[in-house]
Amino acid sequence: MSIKVLGTGFYVPPRAVTNDELSQMVDTSDEWIMQRVGIRERRVSVDETTADMATKAAKNALVSAGIEASELDLIVVGTISSDTACPTVAGMVQRAIGAKCPAFDISSACSGFMFALETAAAYVARGNVKNVLVIGAERLSKLLDWKDRSTCIIFGDGAGAAVVTKGEGYLASTMYTQGSDEVLFIPDVVGSSPFYERTEKPRFVYMDGQETFKFAVGRIARDVKEVAQKAGITLDRINHVVTHQANIRIIEFASKKLKIPMEKFFVNIEKYGNTSAASVPIALAELHASGKLKRGDIVALCAFGGGLSSAACIIKW
Ligand code: UT7
Repeated sequence: MSIKVLGTGFYVPPRAVTNDELSQMVDTSDEWIMQRVGIRERRVSVDETTADMATKAAKNALVSAGIEASELDLIVVGTISSDTACPTVAGMVQRAIGAKCPAFDISSACSGFMFALETAAAYVARGNVKNVLVIGAERLSKLLDWKDRSTCIIFGDGAGAAVVTKGEGYLASTMYTQGSDEVLFIPDVVGSSPFYERTEKPRFVYMDGQETFKFAVGRIARDVKEVAQKAGITLDRINHVVTHQANIRIIEFASKKLKIPMEKFFVNIEKYGNTSAASVPIALAELHASGKLKRGDIVALCAFGGGLSSAACIIKW
């Protein structure tokens, strides 16, 4: 299809919050979190904005791609934790890196980076643009209820980025949306309008963990099979699976359902937790940096989460 990956980069804030530290704040334990989710610690931004983290990931991706910000034709950021409704994170990254191209955000929760990648591919296919900076960046820590042990132990902050250009490395893709606010709900800021009618909705992030879990396991298997079929490859041809890092048990279930061995799944959930839209690009950048990705390798990317939404694609490295 239309694009190939030129370079990748990521950034996570320095402050690590361990499970033991969380155990001082809510009724939980390192043992429970490791067993049920697979997270040891997560990074939390103390003073960096989503745009600050996105900018650092972007700069790393530009170095990895070997191109200048002035050569970018478009910047697309997947995020649900923009610092402001306006300007966008993408706009602030554009200014910080000295790019001159159009820039906009896409909101699709944990699938945000994948939706942004598909958007980049569509723009390149149309012939309008050549080089696109695609970012997933989140500061979900500011939205969480840190007294709610069912959500505060899961999420982390960070940003991942990829520079893509015209090429033949994007073999197939799929996107899925199942509109729902019952399973996963993330509030928006409400001003002080006297006309605004308050609803019964919770003010903080709400997640029905088990329903999300079922959705995730089902979607990964279905989406990866679909894109492999569209790309004309069998599942055993896939060299690496880079999936959203939401729960190690979800990844293990997906491995079983797809009959793709766990060794092919890239896993870094233990270090960063669930960084929402930043999860897949951080994992891809770490896999790239590890030197394990070889030219011609087939990589399946997949994400799922709020929306509800999911997406997958097959990349030829
Ligand atoms: O990125 C967006 C996509 N999100 C996901 O994919 C998340 C998918 N869901 C999950 O990862 C899991 O459902 C969770 C990690 C959120 C929860 O794990 P679970 O195994 O589904 O736990 P549960 O909600 O079924 O709760 C089991 C027990 C309950 O206690 P009782 O009722 O059995 O006594 C909970 O109260 O575990 C308790 N529990 C906890 N205990 C210690 C729930 N959270 C915690 C906690 N520490 N943090």
